[in-house]
This record gives sequence, C-alpha cells and structure tokens, in this order.
Amino acid sequence: MCGIIGCVLKDDEAVPVLLECLGKLEYRGYDSVGIAISANGIKVIKDQSKIHQFAKNPDLNELSGKSGIAHVRWATHGTPIKENAHPHTDCNNRIAVVHNGIIENFKELRVELQNSGHTFTSNTDTEVIPHLIEKYLDEGQNLEEAIYSTTQKLKGAYALAIMFVDEPNKIIGIRKESPLIVGKGNGENFLTSDVSAILSHTDQVIYLDNMEMAILDGNGVTIKNLDGDSITKEIHTIEWSAEMAEKQGFDHFMLKEIHEQPNAVKQTLMEADEINNIIKKFPKFNKISFVACGTSYHASLVGKYLFETLTGVPTDVILASEFEYSASTLNENTLVILISQSGETADTLKALRIANKKSHTLVIVNVVGSTATREADDVIITRAGPEIGVAATKTYVSQLTVIYLMAILMGGNDDLLKTLENMPDYMEEALKTEDQIKEIAGKYSKKTDFFFIGRGYSYPTAIEGALKLKEITYIHAEGYAAGELKHGPLALIDDDVPVVAVIPPGISRDKTLSNMEEVKARNAHVIALGSSADETLKSESDEFIGLPNEINEMFSPLPYVIPMQLLSYYISVERGLDPDKPKNLAKCVTVE
Ligand code: G6P
Repeated sequence: MCGIIGCVLKDDEAVPVLLECLGKLEYRGYDSVGIAISANGIKVIKDQSKIHQFAKNPDLNELSGKSGIAHVRWATHGTPIKENAHPHTDCNNRIAVVHNGIIENFKELRVELQNSGHTFTSNTDTEVIPHLIEKYLDEGQNLEEAIYSTTQKLKGAYALAIMFVDEPNKIIGIRKESPLIVGKGNGENFLTSDVSAILSHTDQVIYLDNMEMAILDGNGVTIKNLDGDSITKEIHTIEWSAEMAEKQGFDHFMLKEIHEQPNAVKQTLMEADEINNIIKKFPKFNKISFVACGTSYHASLVGKYLFETLTGVPTDVILASEFEYSASTLNENTLVILISQSGETADTLKALRIANKKSHTLVIVNVVGSTATREADDVIITRAGPEIGVAATKTYVSQLTVIYLMAILMGGNDDLLKTLENMPDYMEEALKTEDQIKEIAGKYSKKTDFFFIGRGYSYPTAIEGALKLKEITYIHAEGYAAGELKHGPLALIDDDVPVVAVIPPGISRDKTLSNMEEVKARNAHVIALGSSADETLKSESDEFIGLPNEINEMFSPLPYVIPMQLLSYYISVERGLDPDKPKNLAKCVTVE
C-alpha cells in the first residue's frame, strides 16, 4: 500500500541506497516508482514501471547526492501512470513529497489551491501536500512550521517524507495513522515505511507516533512534537537480520516462506510462556470476538472452532471492515482478539480503536513496533520473521500457532501441547508433496474456475486455499463449507471445474466424503487432501494428496494448508505470473 523511504548519508550514494531499500518495499506496491535527490536543486525521476526496470533508467546515472526520498506506489487516487507516480512537487519544484496513505479532503484543498493560482500536474490526492507547504512558505513560515500548518489542513492518513530545495541534505518525516519509522545508522539515517527495507544499514530504529516530526540532517536525527519541542524517543533494536529478508536461493519469496513454515511454528511455540503470562492476568470473559482481514481472518475462523471447543467461551469472528457495524454489544466482558500480520491494516486498526473504548483488546501481530502493537492492551508477537511475498503463508501458520497455544492454555488442556509440538514435523512431511503438487499444477493450470471445500476445521483451510489461488493465479476460486454446496454452487459444477476437497480424518470426514461424491456425480475432477491411510478417499479422487494419518482434524489446519499454498504457487508459475507480486494487491493495506 505504497512504500516510502528517505535517507541522509555521509557520501553521495543516495541513489543506489534508495533503490536497494525500495526493492525491499516493493511488496507494498508496484504500480509505479519514483525518486527525488537533493543535488543542486531537487531532481525527480519517476515512471510507471517495476523497480528493476526503473533502476535501468540512464537518467539515474546522472544523479548523485547525499540525501533523497523514494516511493513505490499502489494506486488509490489516480491511475498508475507516470504523472501520478511520487514524488510530487509544488509549482516551482522547490518541495518534493512522497506519501503513503489517503488524503480524504484533497478535492476541496485542490480547488482552493487552484483558485489561488497553484498548477497541478497529477490526479493524486498527494499533490495538494507540496502545494500547501509552498503556500505556507510563501506566507513566511519556516519549513517545519509550513509542514505543521499543512498537516492541520489534511484529513485522512499519511506518512510523509519531504525535501526542500533551500535546505539540502535535510529530510523531514511526519505521520498520522500510516507507519513511519526512523532508522539510525552510523553516519546514515533513514525514514521508512517498514524496517525490513533498512536492515542492511541499521538495526536501530525509532517508531514515530502520530504527529511527531523527524528531522534528518548531517547532524543526525531530531524528533519534535506538535509544539515544535525536541523530544527523546526510545531506540529499539530490531532482531530480524538483513539475510532474513532475502530469497536465499529460492525462485520467489513465497516459495521460500512456504518452506520456512515448520520453523516459523517452532519459533512461535517458544512464545508459550509469554502467552501464559498474558492470559493468567485475564479476568473471566464471557465472549471472545476475533477481528481480522484476509488470511488473518481465516486464521481467526480456526480460532472460533478451537476456542469454543477448548474453552467453552462463545466466540465470533468479524471482518475488520465490518466491525464498526456490529460492535454495539461490546462490553468489558468481551475479549477482542485482533489478528494482523503487518499490524498496520487500516480496517483492523479502526476496529482496534473502536474495541479499545469498551473491551479488553489483544493483538496477534508479526511486525514488532507496528501501530497495532502500540495501541492494544496486550500484544502477542508471531515469530515468523519478515514476510515479503504478498500472499501470506508463514505468518498464517504462526498466527494459528498462537491461537492453538491460547486456546489450549486458556482451556487448561495442557495434554494437547504435545500434539501441537509435533506439528512442525508433520508440516515437513506436507512439504514433501511438492513434486506431486507441481505435476498436478501443470494439469490444472489452464482451468478458469475452482472450488475448495471442507467442513469444521477444514472449512478455513478450504477458503484460505481458494484465496491463495485467486490472489496469485487470477483464477476464479470459491472456498465453500462442503455442506453448503447443495444450496447453490452445485449448479456451477461440471467436468471443467476442479474441486479441491480437504478431508482429514475426524468427525467431518464421512460427510465431506459424501459431498465429494456429489460433485463427482456432476463430473467434477476432485483433488483430495487426506490421510495417506484413507484408501477410500484415495480411490474415489482423481488426484490424491496424502498426509500423515496421525494428523487429526483439530490440528489439520497447520499441515493441510501447505499443499494448498504449493498448488497456488505452482499454478501461478505455470501461468507465467509472479507469485510474489500479484496484480492490484498489496501486502499491507493502509486504506479503508
Ligand atoms: C492484504 C494482504 C493479505 C493479508 C491482508 C491482511 O490483503 O495481501 O495477504 O492477509 O492484507 O493483512 P494483515 O497485515 O492485517 O494480516
């Protein structure tokens, strides 16, 4: 959802450094890209292209400077064309701005500015910002005052990095709702949307709070509050290494991250004591509400089944974007658990703020220091490490691991901990299906519609499988509770619609098998996932993916999602697509 980076270095390497850092932010947007460098004035180069194409632009060779700002865009206002790419400048090219977020009142501001003589060159919401700064500078304010005055006019969310021609080698950052982090290196300082972009330069970071201003210049970094007073902020050390954000020999981040899953679960299991400490302090809740988006929502659905079974506490699951319409029954007896890989998803943050007013909130988040971790009552960190592929994989299984630990510990079912600890080994077994799945992907890659079905704990697995397929192959896919097929979707089944049936051993097995027979009777090709000892399933399906018989239904979401992810990954590759960068999507969605 747009990535911004800014740097002030001690030598003239800003262009290569910004391009390198931008590459790490590409998962946030890849519609277009741009850079502004302070070198005898502000020089802006931007284009509608991916970063690796942009980096070949010969004009970049002419640029050299110690400081600059850069941006990858995921379009919200204005189509992804060169004119709409960031940085945006004022009328006289004296101010350059990169922005992540949305300015909700930009239309009114634009009209006001145009009426007072400002000329616009893009259709973006962002362009009002350099023009407003220009207006306040022209009125005699200094740069910091002009930026504060500008932010007073803006409604919406923003993280901004700003350059001004009269103060070269200075970058100013300010944020409201969208993330912005300061990286403090050795003689080089950064502003970034995400720490993973600067890991090869520094592990020392400051998380800016809303309306704090960071001033980066040759002397270092100064943070100021809204009154213009310098403030001291805590410096955090990041535990992720630069290597963790590299592909390490895999063709794509997604494949690497799929393979990292057993370890992600192992690392997250080590949070058991921390989780126990948190839940020991809980009062008795009479309701649990999970709130999340996308893949994190699917992890929450597993949570519903688990919490109701293991703790007996009624549990519901609400999409974060729907939360404000259904939050009227919240009270102090409800525990609201919000799940988010990034901790920056706008819908989830909005829900968190609503829930904070009435209930106890707990967030399960992968990115340390993200906004959600600073606003919730309690925080549990998933130990998946940085996830770069847009389609979530290892963070999903890490979220599930936290949910299992919580439900087991809250319900006093400690005997299930041993079963949970076996899961990384079963996930390793699931990864061994890779060659078989590659072959299946080759056979089915040209299909245009898929169904994924499952019951109980396998229902979330089915809809997560369908989501992965949609996201990275652009094939229409629907995940369905197997029992619901007869209430509509059966009308769509024929010999050209493959059905992926998730049927681990357990109480739902026989019924889902019957549903599978129903689609077979309509000539569908069935790709079944189940126990390798399930001879009936093996003989009744067209393709059979067998997993260890010891994996029971309750724990099946962890290993069973792996063949789903691999199927989508290999179909995407087979179709000549880039699974790491699906069109129209972004990893971190910071707009509602
Ligand atoms: C985007 C990503 C998904 C992710 C969802 C929720 O849509 O592409 O992979 O599941 O956001 O993100 P969160 O960071 O809140 O888990």
